[in-house]
Amino acid sequence: MLVDQQSLIEFGYISRAKNRFSNLELIQLFDKAFNFNTANGITGVLFYENRYFAQILEGTREDISRLWKQIQNDNRHVIIREIGFREIDQRTFPSWGMRFFGADRIAKHVPNLKQHLNGLPGSDSKLLTLMRSVAALDRSQ
Ligand SMILES: Cc1cc2nc3c(=O)[nH]c(=O)nc-3n(C[C@H](O)[C@H](O)[C@H](O)COP(=O)(O)O)c2cc1C
Repeated sequence: MLVDQQSLIEFGYISRAKNRFSNLELIQLFDKAFNFNTANGITGVLFYENRYFAQILEGTREDISRLWKQIQNDNRHVIIREIGFREIDQRTFPSWGMRFFGADRIAKHVPNLKQHLNGLPGSDSKLLTLMRSVAALDRSQ
């Protein structure tokens, strides 16, 4: 089958930090991700709570698979599993090169997310729905 490398996809995964990230380390990670993604047409959202990461990436299949290799090889965390992969017509986070939600923002905007971060695969679609829901928030929040 011919795979269109330019088609737009949404990809999500959860992972666990090997060591707890400090606020500074989170800011540095976010900064790096934001700059790279913005320059490369990649958008999405990243959550971090109690050593768990959950991320949605949007972009062309080619760009996302390249970035995904890098993220998988990042030895600061261990991938738990992929939670979603689908072709999309339009992005959920068109203006977010990457937006970060730490514990405070998760508690404020998506409190239910926490229980799903270390949950079973059965709750992955619920987790993705919660992750996507923050797209409705204004940047200032
Ligand atoms: C949870 C997690 C999410 C990440 N997300 C991104 C991302 O969206 N974009 C990005 O460029 N790097 C991201 N990174 C960083 C990459 O894994 C990797 O460190 C970086 O792209 C490599 O850059 P360098 O080798 O030039 O330092 C992420 C890392 C972690 C641990």
